[in-house]
Amino acid sequence: MQLSTKHLLGIKNLLKEDISTILSTARQFKEVLQRPIKKVPSLRDVTIVNLFYENSTRTRISFELAEKRLSADAINFAASASSVSKGETLLDTVNNILSMKVDMVVMRHSASGAPHFLARHVPAAIINAGDGINEHPTQALLDAFSITERLGVLEGKKILLVGDITHSRVALSNIHLLKKMGAEVMVAGPPTLIPKYIEEALQVKVEYNLKKALAWCDVANILRIQLERQNQVLFSSLREYNLAYGVTKKILDEINKEIIIMHPGPINRGVEIDSDVADSNQSIILQQVENGVAVRMAVLYLLSGVKN
Ligand code: CP
Repeated sequence: MQLSTKHLLGIKNLLKEDISTILSTARQFKEVLQRPIKKVPSLRDVTIVNLFYENSTRTRISFELAEKRLSADAINFAASASSVSKGETLLDTVNNILSMKVDMVVMRHSASGAPHFLARHVPAAIINAGDGINEHPTQALLDAFSITERLGVLEGKKILLVGDITHSRVALSNIHLLKKMGAEVMVAGPPTLIPKYIEEALQVKVEYNLKKALAWCDVANILRIQLERQNQVLFSSLREYNLAYGVTKKILDEINKEIIIMHPGPINRGVEIDSDVADSNQSIILQQVENGVAVRMAVLYLLSGVKN
């Protein structure tokens, strides 16, 4: 099996067939990860660099673990501990790394479009691990994988994204993926955190009342307020945000409907989600993290060009 693309830069330009191929390959790798010996030789002799110009817990560890489970040689690069601080450019950094015979690059960067720039200038396969406010494709793939584990298919399912839609790369990748796969998508949050014209541009529903939005959906994916990406005051305080848009046990009890609760992490307890929701049986937050390894194994394997 192969994908129609050499790189994974985003979901926007990925074919529906590519998404299905990644999800079905991830199912096979998840089965491998349940075995006592979780390692397969699929990417032996393939070298992958994890190039992180921005902080990460889940994505960086998940990619590294996926690479190790596939028997690839994994190298970790943190910009803060590199010669970037001495003025080296992104392109010089990557070309120096590639000259050491590196085959694939996993990259997170605070600048939207940074992986697209690299893909135009270097021969290696580039995988976007999150670029600015643009896309986070492997997060959307693992979210989709986690939903299908619970609900079987995405087609016709009602998926709600709650919170800071404007600054969330997770939201944009999720919207592209869910729409391609036939799900209905709604976004909810304060008007200042939802882009104007999103309804027409991306064919999603918009709801400013959290209770109505939760009553509509099968799945609620709750997003963090991206304070580090906001350069102006967009809501009065975190306390007031929690009162209007925080997903609490009280509001879930009021709608009296068993919806699935998701969050890409990191979670801010008591802001966008309360602890008794994040830690409840309705929450699949840690299953999302678990599934990330199998999904990233699938992406790396399918983009490596290795034919086993
Ligand atoms: N979900 C996610 O991207 O988390 P990290 O920032 O910890 O990688």
